[in-house]
Amino acid sequence: MPELTTTPAGAAAKLPRHIAAIMDGNGRWARLRGLPRSAGHAAGAETFRRIATYCRDLGLEHFTVYAFSTENWKRSADEVDAIMGLLKKYLLESIEKMERDRIRLKILGDTSALSGELRELIDATDAIARRLSGCFQANVCLNYGGRDEIVRAVKRFCSEHPAGELTERALSDSLDTAGIPDPDLIIRTGGEYRLSNFLLWESAYSELVFSDVLWPDFTPEDIDAAIAEFARRDRRYGGVTS
Ligand code: FPP
Repeated sequence: MPELTTTPAGAAAKLPRHIAAIMDGNGRWARLRGLPRSAGHAAGAETFRRIATYCRDLGLEHFTVYAFSTENWKRSADEVDAIMGLLKKYLLESIEKMERDRIRLKILGDTSALSGELRELIDATDAIARRLSGCFQANVCLNYGGRDEIVRAVKRFCSEHPAGELTERALSDSLDTAGIPDPDLIIRTGGEYRLSNFLLWESAYSELVFSDVLWPDFTPEDIDAAIAEFARRDRRYGGVTS
């Protein structure tokens, strides 16, 4: 995999509005240190906090992460509990600090399968987020799958508009990501080259950057490098370069 290079000037010239990240490599990061996988997720949650703050400071509008997929329930109960515990901790912190930090938190995914406690915390963050307009938004995908999101969106559209025509615009407006611009750049850490059911509809024209760095080790310099790589890309959306 080629090394990413950092050119902050180029990055500033073409800043994405929305970066999304597949935070892969927490388990391997922990194993390399002889730690339980939960320690890798705890370190990964700290990296999320650092990178989200950095994206806010750069002037991005959205940063979206894949925290727990519809397939991640296959993991051990201990690991699932550890991830849910970290999400609870982060939601509690957000309720306390969202207004001060100007980071609007939004949970995306099918929250109906989550514990009542988590759902109450999500409702509380949503209520605060509604009062905060025009600020940076961190989106956390939780019990999220791209295919599941599309199926739920179609069902939502059909129940809300029984006689309506399903168009691309209408489907976009029925997704969990309604109102959020499609990600300009999707970064996957941990050395794997796939989307793993992440933002399948929204990624139609996203630029993809893959990094070998394990997510807990991912730094603001790595974000700069990914943005610099993004700035070098020629986005044609099916057209031709003028
Ligand atoms: C993928 O790495 C990571 C996950 C499935 C969980 C990510 C969750 C967190 C970082 C914690 C909570 C998040 C927030 C936003 C507070 P992996 O476990 O598949 O790594 P591996 O491929 O090395 O095993």
